[in-house]
Amino acid sequence: MSTAFNPTAYNYKVVRQFAIMTVVWGILGMGLGVFIASQLVWPELNLGLEWTTFGRLRPLHTNLVIFAFGGCALFGTSYYVVQRTCQTRLISDSLASFTFWGWQAVILGAIITLPLGYTTTKEYAELEWPLAILLAIVWVVYGIVFFGTITRRKTKHIYVGNWFYGAFIVVTAMLHIVNHASLPVSFFKSYSAYAGATDAMIQWWYGHNAVGFFLTTGFLGMMYYFVPKQAERPIYSYRLSIVHFWALITLYIWAGPHHLHYTALPDWAQSLGMAMSIILLAPSWGGMINGMMTLSGAWHKLRTDPILRFLVVSLAFYGMSTFEGPMMAIKTVNALSHYTDWTIGHVHAGALGWVAMISIGSMYHMIPRLYGQKQMYSVGLINVHFWLATIGTVLYIASMWVNGITQGLMWRAINDDGTLTYSFVESLQASHPGFIVRAIGGAIFASGMLFMAYNVWRTIRASNPAEAEAASTIAVAGAH
Ligand code: HEM
Ligand code: HEM
Repeated sequence: MSTAFNPTAYNYKVVRQFAIMTVVWGILGMGLGVFIASQLVWPELNLGLEWTTFGRLRPLHTNLVIFAFGGCALFGTSYYVVQRTCQTRLISDSLASFTFWGWQAVILGAIITLPLGYTTTKEYAELEWPLAILLAIVWVVYGIVFFGTITRRKTKHIYVGNWFYGAFIVVTAMLHIVNHASLPVSFFKSYSAYAGATDAMIQWWYGHNAVGFFLTTGFLGMMYYFVPKQAERPIYSYRLSIVHFWALITLYIWAGPHHLHYTALPDWAQSLGMAMSIILLAPSWGGMINGMMTLSGAWHKLRTDPILRFLVVSLAFYGMSTFEGPMMAIKTVNALSHYTDWTIGHVHAGALGWVAMISIGSMYHMIPRLYGQKQMYSVGLINVHFWLATIGTVLYIASMWVNGITQGLMWRAINDDGTLTYSFVESLQASHPGFIVRAIGGAIFASGMLFMAYNVWRTIRASNPAEAEAASTIAVAGAH
């Protein structure tokens, strides 16, 4: 592909780069997930080295799966969707390329610094200030490329998928910059600009909206493009998608305090967070229903199309985790679930069931098109992947529910004389079978990614440069 601005072709090069790295980081991030899950089964796997302890590898897992795997999927699909729905090339090839290499540099920085123990200690915002600044720069450039492309659009309307991607980009920038305000004291140590309960509130305002805007709104952008495309049906209700958008972004931003129930945070703020979380069920399910109902009249396609299955099952898990979340936000329920594996189960219902599955489905739709192929090398292998992912997710979350409720009940059990019925170690022993099932479920899920890698590699190999070049030509007229 030429590097000069070519108004007759989409920039697929950067989309291909992000798509390939989605698969690579998916394998590494989930592989690391299986490793830390195994450490909880066999503590010897901490290997007696400080760099490989659970405490250091856990944040590396979250950074790799959320920012590397999820981030590359979001960058790649958003660049693909914005070009196709605006019928125009990305505003700048060099800026787009900068976002690719800059993003990989941030991830490489995480891989080096987190095992060495450099961390701000704020969950999902662990990267120390030099990397946080690089991330902020990459993100601002991402915004320029994305919104700049929208201003160049040949279409009258801005397709709703771009609204979701746009909100995800703007809010992530705001959250990242505000939460990272800190005072550097050395090259790899900084202290938060906030103190005490304020620091906690800012952190969980960030943390929850990282879930709301990074892990949800961006992926809803994906949903609004790839579900109708794969089902070959228009979105069920355009009006519902607009209501969904405004309701979601208005409500999410208030729900952070549900991470700080029964803490030093003022009681009114906790109750506000709880109330807003419960209301959040409505727009979440509105979005899920909009996606699901897009299949009206096309349900039979599920019998033969494993890509559509990935997309629909991801919506089912989205619905499930956004029902579970508001329940867990109720203070009395949270009194049981907090600190237990129930939270971990909820996280992975969203992370594996929703985030990973919608990304995988979208990649299977997009990758052959990026290389001028009609479909992936093997539809059968996509089907195998689908079952591995579904079975893996179910094993993971079911084992964590059982563990979570067991732990919560054991920790609060009290004898007649007021002493605790169980010691912590007893609850850990009771959790061991669940840890084993989770590690097996995770390994099953992660093995599916290897089938994906093989399928993607064969699809790319089947393509030649001329076919790939032709695939990126902008159609003069016609739908996106
Ligand atoms: C094969 C798949 C995976 C396995 C085996 C796995 C395993 C784990 C384990 C063992 C933990 C630590 C749990 C604990 O502290 O008790 C964890 C945490 C976490 N994982 Fe995964 N994971 C996988 C995939 C993913 C994916 C794809 C995502 C996101 C897209 C994700 C996001 C997270 C998050 C956000 C946490 C932190 C949860 C919290 O602090 O409450 N994981 N994972
Ligand atoms: C309406 C939607 C949702 C609500 C109201 C909600 C609510 C909650 C609540 C109450 C917790 C437990 C807080 C605690 O006890 O510490 C939690 C944790 C979490 N949720 Fe959700 N959730 C929702 C959807 C989702 C989705 C779709 C995802 C993932 C894609 C997700 C990812 C997470 C993560 C990563 C955590 C763990 C945070 C941590 O402690 O590290 N949530 N959520």
